Amino acid sequence: MKQASRAALRPPTAHPESALPAGVQKLDRPIPLVKAQSLAFLMFEKPDLAACETFLADFGMQRFTRSDERLLMRGHGSAPCIYMASRGKEARYVGAAFTVADEAALLRLQHRAGARRLAAADIPGGGSGVELVDPAGNLLWLVTGQQSSAPLPLRAPLHPYANSYGDVRRVNATIRPPLEPAAVAKLGHVVMQTVDFQGMADWYMRHLGLIPTDVQYLADGSPNLAFFRLDLGDTPADHHSFVLAGGIEEKYEHSAYEVVDLDALGQGHNVLRANGHRHMWGIGRHVLGSQLFDYWYDPDGMEFEHYTDGDVFTASHETHYVPLEMSGIWAWGDDVPASMGVKRNLGTVLKVLRLLWQGRIKLDRLKLLGSAMANPRPWL
Ligand SMILES: [Fe+2]
Repeated sequence: MKQASRAALRPPTAHPESALPAGVQKLDRPIPLVKAQSLAFLMFEKPDLAACETFLADFGMQRFTRSDERLLMRGHGSAPCIYMASRGKEARYVGAAFTVADEAALLRLQHRAGARRLAAADIPGGGSGVELVDPAGNLLWLVTGQQSSAPLPLRAPLHPYANSYGDVRRVNATIRPPLEPAAVAKLGHVVMQTVDFQGMADWYMRHLGLIPTDVQYLADGSPNLAFFRLDLGDTPADHHSFVLAGGIEEKYEHSAYEVVDLDALGQGHNVLRANGHRHMWGIGRHVLGSQLFDYWYDPDGMEFEHYTDGDVFTASHETHYVPLEMSGIWAWGDDVPASMGVKRNLGTVLKVLRLLWQGRIKLDRLKLLGSAMANPRPWL
C-alpha cells in the first residue's frame, strides 16, 4: 500500500542585517533627499470611469469627485483622495503620490532632483507638489498642504469581543456585523515589478527615504525583492508602503487597502462576490508583513487587495533578509494563483529574449529567478 507523503513543514528563515550569512549582499541605502510621510494616492488611466467607480464602491471606497475626465475616490480616513483615474484609451498604472512634511522638502526635490512643479488644481485637496519620473517611466508625486477631509464613520473593531479558548469575553451576546462593503480605511501599499531591481530600489529610497523592512535574495545572495516602510522615526509605520520585485517587465502588480478587521474583510468578500466581481486570491495570511489578505480584480484585470492586521515597525527596527521563494508570500490560505507567477506563453518568451538581447538581464539571473518561483509551495 502506498504511504501518504509527509510534508516537511518549515517556516522561512529571516536573517537580521547585522548577522547576514556569507554571500548574502546588503541592499545599500543611499542618503535620502526627503523622508515621505505617507502614501497619499495612486494614479491610473482608465477607459471607463463609471465601471471603475462601481467596482471601487463595492470594494469599500467612496466618491470624492467625478467628471467626464477624472474620478477621485477616497477612503474613510482624512485623506481627501486615495485613488485617481483619468480617462484614457487603455487601462494603465500611471504612478504614486506620497506626502512630505513641508515646502522645504519640495524645494529640495526641485533643486537636487530636477522635480517639476505641479499646478495646485491638479492635486486632489490642493496644496503644492512636485513631479518626478522614475527610471521605468512611472510618475512619482510628492505633495504637501492638501486640505484633509472629515473622516467618515467606521464601525468599531470586533476583536475585543472575540471568544478564544481560555479567554471568553462574549457572554449572552452574538457577532452580527452588517453585510456591507469592507469600508476602506486607508491606502496601504503599492507593489511594482521591475527589470532593474537595484536601480529602482536605489531611486525610490533616495527620493522617499524608504527603509527596507524585509529584503528577499536569490540563491546567489543578490537582493531581488524588498518591502519598504516609511521612515517616521519613533512613530510606527506599516511593514511596507512600497514594494519592488525584480522580474522580467516594468509593471504594476497590485495595491492594497486597509479595512477594519477580519469580519470586514470576509463580509466585503461576500459583497464583491455577490456583485459579480472577479476574485483572485484569499482569504489568507501573508508571512512578510503578516496581513490577513483578500485579492480582487478590477474591471480591467488590475489587482486590488484588502488587508487587515498588518505588522508595524518604528525606524529603529533592523532590516531582515529572507531567501526569495513563493513561501514568503503566505502563511496559510489557498495556494498562490498561477496568475501571480510568470505566464508560460509566447509573450513571456519574447519578453525574455528581448531583455537578453538588450543586455538588461543575464541568463544566470533569469535561471535563479525561475528556480525561486518554480515551486509554489517550497515548504511542503
Ligand atoms: Fe500586498
